[in-house]
Amino acid sequence: MKLVVNGRAHEVDAPADMPLLWVLRDLVGLTGTKFGCGMALCGACTVHVGGQPVRACVTPVAAVAGQPVTTIEGLSPDGTHPVQRAWQEVDVVQCGYCQSGQIMAAAALLKQNPAPSDADIDTALAGNLCRCGTYQRIRAAVHRAAELQKGAAG
Ligand code: FES
Ligand code: FES
Repeated sequence: MKLVVNGRAHEVDAPADMPLLWVLRDLVGLTGTKFGCGMALCGACTVHVGGQPVRACVTPVAAVAGQPVTTIEGLSPDGTHPVQRAWQEVDVVQCGYCQSGQIMAAAALLKQNPAPSDADIDTALAGNLCRCGTYQRIRAAVHRAAELQKGAAG
């Protein structure tokens, strides 16, 4: 099967129903995307497919053929995506396990809605759980990322 991940073409030997998460982690070698629940309940495995956030743990690899996949490793070439910069400024991360999923969900939100309200953020990220309870800092960081994104665009 042919896949394009983070702008690079890959050919993987995988059954059509293998979850995209296993393909990314075990066959492509990109381990930034995490396994949490395996049932679309926690958001740890969030990646972008065709620019939309999806749960890689329940997405069969065959479903993404022909669409670009972006993982946390490909969000920016050097960690300078506005969401990544904001996450560092606000010092969001505690244990870190949920955070690649949080960042990918936040990046997708800001692409659709460049100035989200608290309610927009809470709604968009409601499916991304953090057992460390970093929700307040995540919210602050999404607002900061929106400012950085606006500055970059302006
Ligand atoms: S591991 Fe995919 S949503 Fe939890
Ligand atoms: S930072 Fe630990 S689970 Fe979110």
